Amino acid sequence: MTTTSGLPAGAAVQELLKRTVPGTSTAIQHVREDILDFAASVTAKAILIKGPIGVGKSTVARVIGFLKRVAPLERIQAERLITDLRFDETRRIDIRYIPWFVELALTGLVETLADSQLFGVARGAYTGATAQRAGVFELAMTGRSRRGSEHIGARVTGGVVFLDEIGDLSPTIQPKLLPVLSGGLFYRVGGEGSEEHALEFHGTTITASWKDLSSATLRPDLLSRIAPYVITVPSLDDRREDFDDLLSSIEDGVIASTKQSIAAVLEADRFVDRDYWPSRKDAVARLSSDARRRLSEVAWGRHGNLRGIAAAVERIIASGTDVERVIEELSPIGAGDDTVDRTEDGMLDLLLDRTWDGQGLAGHVKAAEVQLRRDLRDRLLDDAAMRQRLSQQLRIPDRQLLTQIHQLARRRHRGKEPK
Ligand SMILES: Nc1ncnc2c1ncn2[C@@H]1O[C@H](COP(=O)(O)OP(=O)(O)OP(=O)(O)O)[C@@H](O)[C@H]1O
Ligand SMILES: [Mg+2]
Repeated sequence: MTTTSGLPAGAAVQELLKRTVPGTSTAIQHVREDILDFAASVTAKAILIKGPIGVGKSTVARVIGFLKRVAPLERIQAERLITDLRFDETRRIDIRYIPWFVELALTGLVETLADSQLFGVARGAYTGATAQRAGVFELAMTGRSRRGSEHIGARVTGGVVFLDEIGDLSPTIQPKLLPVLSGGLFYRVGGEGSEEHALEFHGTTITASWKDLSSATLRPDLLSRIAPYVITVPSLDDRREDFDDLLSSIEDGVIASTKQSIAAVLEADRFVDRDYWPSRKDAVARLSSDARRRLSEVAWGRHGNLRGIAAAVERIIASGTDVERVIEELSPIGAGDDTVDRTEDGMLDLLLDRTWDGQGLAGHVKAAEVQLRRDLRDRLLDDAAMRQRLSQQLRIPDRQLLTQIHQLARRRHRGKEPK
């Protein structure tokens, strides 16, 4: 079990965690515990963050990346580092303040580009490669912002690389990552075999994916290297009790960034309308309690989770759009929710769909049950007429039924839920 014993500045760290990964649900508390455990662990050198789209995976990656540096410090130094930390306009840790941390999104990267972004390029590797360039592992090792000279944070952590959307890594590059993740030698592109271009990475590699990685997306040997430490960030539908905290946090961010944008307009040009813009700035207000209530009734797991809420809140606060219209115009985001396209498959069909993972029949049945409950929950949340029929038929008041529907697919046991 986790305590903050592995980390100094317990209170400051807890505060940071509550700010960046808010919520009181058991599920999110477990996420925070895992973050602390893995950040303090000297063996957790590869960490996989799973979860649907927009739940805060990148946020978690940044927090771990930051705390890896804090972990070995004495309390005063740790607190100073936490105080100096800055946040970007979307309320995530601003990575300019953690130079030993380098992010690379693997989605849509052209193969040749992925190669050089990951491993760097040797001078003369190809026409136009006039200078040697560092890849993400090398940048993290030396400290991103200080080219050439080693950064103290990078030296302590060994560097932290965050590879987002690892499921999108092309099959030809996948084997090239194996030596990097095992602490073996790897080479800048074009410098293969040359001692001058040989590098070793001893830092931490964090990966994230909303895709099911047990399928054919990743080579098993790569999967086994990236997945010894896993954090699963749950969908908002599985932690309804966190909604208020999350909404307030998102609202704070949207208000601050809207005011900032208006201030930037005012500063940008001396001819801007000096009556209109300041009054617009003054008009930026918090959500009404009615808007909060209406937003709380949306199944955000189907609409982009935190990312979806942020977009909706932005429309309401920054553009003044009516909450009903915003809700009406939400479109389902299927990705990250593998239940979306599923029709009314029975239990048997679900079982026949499953891939081998060493579990017995009972384990698979349990997983199929979870799947069926989720499908049912999603259908009911999507279909107001059906909900009304059910409410009349079972004589359960609307509001109560809605709460109970949300509870249908709630995780009950940490880590016990079958895949
Ligand atoms: N504590 C928070 N307070 C306010 N907004 C937050 C918080 N955490 C995350 N967000 C916002 O929610 C959105 C999603 O967060 P994040 O990018 O970390 O999720 P993700 O799971 O990596 O998303 P994706 O699947 O799209 O990569 C971002 O816009 C982020 O700014
Ligand atoms: Mg992300």
